Amino acid sequence: MSGSGFGRGKVILLGEHAVVHGEPALAGALARGVRAEAAAGAAHLRVAAWGLEARPDGAAPVDRAFAAILAATGAGEAAVTADAEIPVGAGLGSSAALAAAVARALCSDEARVADAVAASERIFHGNPSGIDAAMALGGGFGRFTRGGGLERFAAAPVRLCVANTGRRRDTGALVAGVSARLRDRPAATAALLRAIGALVDQGVTALREGRLTSLGEVMDRNQAALAEVGVSCSEIETACELARRAGALGAKLTGAGGGGCVVALAPGREEAVLAAWRAAGLEAFAAEVGFQHGSQ
Ligand code: MEV
Repeated sequence: MSGSGFGRGKVILLGEHAVVHGEPALAGALARGVRAEAAAGAAHLRVAAWGLEARPDGAAPVDRAFAAILAATGAGEAAVTADAEIPVGAGLGSSAALAAAVARALCSDEARVADAVAASERIFHGNPSGIDAAMALGGGFGRFTRGGGLERFAAAPVRLCVANTGRRRDTGALVAGVSARLRDRPAATAALLRAIGALVDQGVTALREGRLTSLGEVMDRNQAALAEVGVSCSEIETACELARRAGALGAKLTGAGGGGCVVALAPGREEAVLAAWRAAGLEAFAAEVGFQHGSQ
């Protein structure tokens, strides 16, 4: 048994959480991700960059996810080591990128790989929309829905500033929190999630037409709605405010929120935004997500 595999990280520009409940989201894959190498040996997974070890007979979510990947790929025993270029548990799709890399290192059948990633994501996130898995496996950029997958459209690539608030959180718990809110306050929460879906479509139109100021405004309104849904926190609000003050057109959390990463759209002001974040002690980088229609 030997092989290697890669899974991409992702950035959600608009629509996280609402996408779990059937609304659209706007997302793009990152060039960075996780690379894994498999070799013959006792079943074991090690991700040095995240200080993470897993064994299929363990009880932790990462142990169970590794066991599910081994089962879905039919790999049996394998020792897997992974290199990660994205932070763990920060909204950039680390669990799906890891699962995609490990499954691909173990198996070349992409259908089995997709099943393995879906099984692993269910262990980590309970009720995932599939957006992280689609980006980790397929790359690309576009409007994603739970039923329809990724719909690509023609647009210029988008350069985003990304900062990690440094606050770790649990995507599964945040997704479950929104579902609990939907049960407790169905009308108000459903209205908020629908409003996020409408913002996504406004954002898609703005992006297709190259109206970045409008896209930035939609990002800010999406952030306000996410705060109302209960998935923001003071670190996210501070990072968004720093970006806006440094000239960003819009800023918001990306991924599950509760900490993790924020993204800012700041054409021509990227360096100022990154400098403001770094001065505040945040790890930050610029990333391009996007595609020219037909190029991927
Ligand atoms: C996590 O990257 C995005 C969420 O919408 C969860 C999901 O879509 O599975 C919060």
